[in-house]
Amino acid sequence: MKFLEAESYQPLAREIFGQLRSLIQQTLPAARVEHIGSSSIQGAISKGDLDLFVGVEAEEFQGAIAAIESLGFRTKAESFRNETLCPFESDAYPLPVGLQLVMNRSEFECFLGFRDRMNADADLRSEYNQLKARASNLNEDEYRSAKSNFIESVLSRRPVLFKTARFTAQLLSVADLALVIQLNNTCSDFFLFQNGVPPGEGDAREIFEQVPSASTGVIKLPIGIFSSERLVGVLDVLRGYRTNSEWYIGFMLLAPSFRGQGLGTEIHNEFVRYARSAGAHRFLLAVLEANEAARRFWLRLGYSKIKDYPPRQFGNRLHGLAEYEMNL
Ligand SMILES: CC(C)(COP(=O)(O)OP(=O)(O)OC[C@H]1O[C@@H](n2cnc3c(N)ncnc32)[C@H](O)[C@@H]1OP(=O)(O)O)[C@@H](O)C(=O)NCCC(=O)NCCS
Repeated sequence: MKFLEAESYQPLAREIFGQLRSLIQQTLPAARVEHIGSSSIQGAISKGDLDLFVGVEAEEFQGAIAAIESLGFRTKAESFRNETLCPFESDAYPLPVGLQLVMNRSEFECFLGFRDRMNADADLRSEYNQLKARASNLNEDEYRSAKSNFIESVLSRRPVLFKTARFTAQLLSVADLALVIQLNNTCSDFFLFQNGVPPGEGDAREIFEQVPSASTGVIKLPIGIFSSERLVGVLDVLRGYRTNSEWYIGFMLLAPSFRGQGLGTEIHNEFVRYARSAGAHRFLLAVLEANEAARRFWLRLGYSKIKDYPPRQFGNRLHGLAEYEMNL
């Protein structure tokens, strides 16, 4: 098996992904179209193909099969298929294209979880590349099984990013969507305040949403704060925002029973230490002008305001925003 270096196939894969996403969304406007597979993983060597994830609701699944076939894809006869997963392929593009049609919230959301875990962890990426480099000594079956063991082992662990006296901070993936939905429901006070409506599934999904292109070096880190085995908070972080050493805290949320006891401060302190060791020099974040408690929290931690933004819509509320920074 011959593998290509990332630079030699990923730019083309990204370009074709962009074209296919527009095409698929014209036919299936509600579908979630995402780039998955090796070509979506920074620096991954690969045979040089492109893989897409198309997520649809249960009631759209059968119609989506026909819609994807109408775009020239054929179902992959020899691959596993069930009522929540249908794999397709096409050789009508400059790279071989594989497409996984997935029912939203099914176990096959793991395609996205694997991509995100890999992009967040340079050690895992180099382990994966080494496994592929060894493939020349393996037959097809041995290689497939080594690869699926690796994928399973990546998906079965939630990497611990840092620890505090009381909490562990672990990297979440969409496989943890149900946990985040549950946490958000306990924090409906915050969502009502921000959006004027209780939290929905979209609010939970948002923390797993990728930034447009991994090529810019921006990585989404959805961090879960666990007390024993229970998810009690999240930190939604963009690593490498604007420049490599700038990180953007999109969101920090603790379950109400954990607020106001210095625990947010404890978590933030360890997060700073972790981010510094990973090369961060500056944190940025935006706070709703009306969120006075949060503003006090960030100011006390040492942030300062750098910019005001005009009001914008959050759900059915309008909020002015202020941007804050802290040099690490
Ligand atoms: C913002 C948030 C993450 C801060 O975490 P936290 O654990 O509540 O923060 P802290 O406990 O360190 O500080 C909050 C307050 O508790 C006080 N406090 C700190 N240690 C304390 C202690 N041991 N005992 C009593 N009070 C304490 C702090 O002085 C602070 O008081 P203030 O409200 O007068 O400023 C959390 O409150 C939260 O999830 N809020 C809802 C979501 C939100 O607004 N997120 C921010 C979006 S930008």
